[in-house]
Amino acid sequence: MEISACFLASSLLLLVSSTSATDSKNNPADQLVAVINKNRTSHKSPALFDNAGLGCIALQYIKAYQGQCGEVGDNKKPPDSSFLDTFAPNCGVKPSTLAPITGRLLACQGTYVSPEEAFSILIEDRRSLQILHNKNHEEVGAAVSGTDGGAPYFWCVLFSNGTTNSSFVPQGGVPKTVRPGCFSGNDDDCSGAHGSSSAPWTMVAGIWIALACALAV
Ligand SMILES: *[C@@H]1O[C@H](CO)[C@@H](O)[C@H](O)[C@H]1NC(C)=O
Ligand SMILES: *[C@@H]1O[C@H](CO)[C@@H](O)[C@H](O)[C@H]1NC(C)=O
Ligand SMILES: *[C@@H]1O[C@H](CO)[C@@H](O)[C@H](O)[C@H]1NC(C)=O
Repeated sequence: MEISACFLASSLLLLVSSTSATDSKNNPADQLVAVINKNRTSHKSPALFDNAGLGCIALQYIKAYQGQCGEVGDNKKPPDSSFLDTFAPNCGVKPSTLAPITGRLLACQGTYVSPEEAFSILIEDRRSLQILHNKNHEEVGAAVSGTDGGAPYFWCVLFSNGTTNSSFVPQGGVPKTVRPGCFSGNDDDCSGAHGSSSAPWTMVAGIWIALACALAV
């Protein structure tokens, strides 16, 4: 049984310059995990282990939406069996090391925003705040579908209570690289992490629809 509360928020997002997110070496998924852990520790919840295998699965989770932003607000989610059937094999994660998912946060945006702004879109109500601060989580994996060119932009955070060094373990120690997109916990260069060179979106102020969804399990 799972209770889910998704909401559609028509947000007015005034885009200000966020060039810090577009430095070539930066991985926005890792930056999102850093924001999450900083917020947790300020609220007396322990920091979470950034598990690359789980991060890769978070990117697979995004891909399951096939770019359908509206389904985030419609409260649709991939079947639980996809973790075993699709996500783990695509990441090279050993099926026997899959651990329970203890929380999910998902957002979809018409434009690329900084990890800090993605955080505030993901954490938009009391329910998502509870998921964020839940003390049962042990580890986290985050992903973003890309940083340029490919709107809409999905952000996904998966939490797990699996043990840090024996869950979501990839064959050979490193998850398969999945393009496009970025996930946390790996040192990989992130696809499209240079930001958009064609569109000066950092200078544009606009109105965008933001969709977010929080699921406790
Ligand atoms: C943690 O995040 C929540 C949701 O964005 C925010 O309301 C709160 O002020 C943050 N806490 C700190 C210490 O930054
Ligand atoms: C992890 O979470 C699942 C689902 O919430 C729960 O059934 C399980 O007992 C938990 N395991 C540990 C080790 O806390
Ligand atoms: C994995 O974690 C367990 C418990 O924290 C610890 O005893 C063990 O040494 C760790 N193994 C590795 C390979 O880090």
